[in-house]
Amino acid sequence: MDYLNINKISWDKRAKIHVDSEFYDVEGFLGGGSSLQDIEIRELGEVSGKTLLHLQCHFGLDTLSWARLGADVTGVDLSSVAIDTAKLLSLQLGLESRFICADLYRFGDEFDGEYDVVFTSYGALCWLPDIHRWAATVARCLKPGGTFYIAEFHPFYDIFFGYSYFHLTDPDVEEAGTYTENGQAEKLTLATWAHPISDVVNALIEAGIEIIQLNEYPYSPYNCFDGMEERDRGRFYLSHKGYDIPLIYTIKGVKRE
Ligand SMILES: C[S@@+](CC[C@H](N)C(=O)[O-])C[C@H]1O[C@@H](n2cnc3c(N)ncnc32)[C@H](O)[C@@H]1O
Repeated sequence: MDYLNINKISWDKRAKIHVDSEFYDVEGFLGGGSSLQDIEIRELGEVSGKTLLHLQCHFGLDTLSWARLGADVTGVDLSSVAIDTAKLLSLQLGLESRFICADLYRFGDEFDGEYDVVFTSYGALCWLPDIHRWAATVARCLKPGGTFYIAEFHPFYDIFFGYSYFHLTDPDVEEAGTYTENGQAEKLTLATWAHPISDVVNALIEAGIEIIQLNEYPYSPYNCFDGMEERDRGRFYLSHKGYDIPLIYTIKGVKRE
């Protein structure tokens, strides 16, 4: 199956829908807002003056938000529509940036460059069939001593919505709308893979990343799953039999010298 082409077609369509959504609030971003969440701002820490590679950057809002905090940013994404939009936004805002349209694995194989920080977030890993190859790409793109950071949806949640928690070789292929409020009408074909946290951690360790922090959160900063309850402002919870489901995990690591 040509999963890359299937997902590229769907992400190109999603990118168009997302730019017009309230969920992404491009207008607020152009007005000076940041699309970053408290979790990653607090946990990743100071980025000013650092080179930062954003893997699977979508149409660049988070990448450009890091640029606004002083990072020298490069964003990579499979979707040409997303990358073209990111370039336009960057130009419009006069923010220094580089955006590259490439499959993540191809980027790792073909592009040179070592960064101080490699960042990726919220809905990235499920599009990748091979978590070891992903971790090797992360390590290759980092300077020795550089920082890796991920904030990702917790795969434990998948069990409640009918997906596998553990990795399966074959992708889950489904037709679905997208997660923004304007994105239910058009069904798109998506190929995804589950990656349990142990696989992610072990792949990073094997690739030469020393894990210095692993956190789990009982809330998501995004209201993107059915039945979420906003108990505190900007914190959306889901519970099962009275107990909170883990919704986000984060990992911070350093590439061994
Ligand atoms: C859910 S989005 C990332 C979300 C991001 N946190 C945001 O909201 O801006 C996932 C991104 O992964 C990209 N993607 C999917 N498969 C990819 C691949 N093989 N290589 C690079 N990017 C890929 C998609 O094009 C999409 O922009």
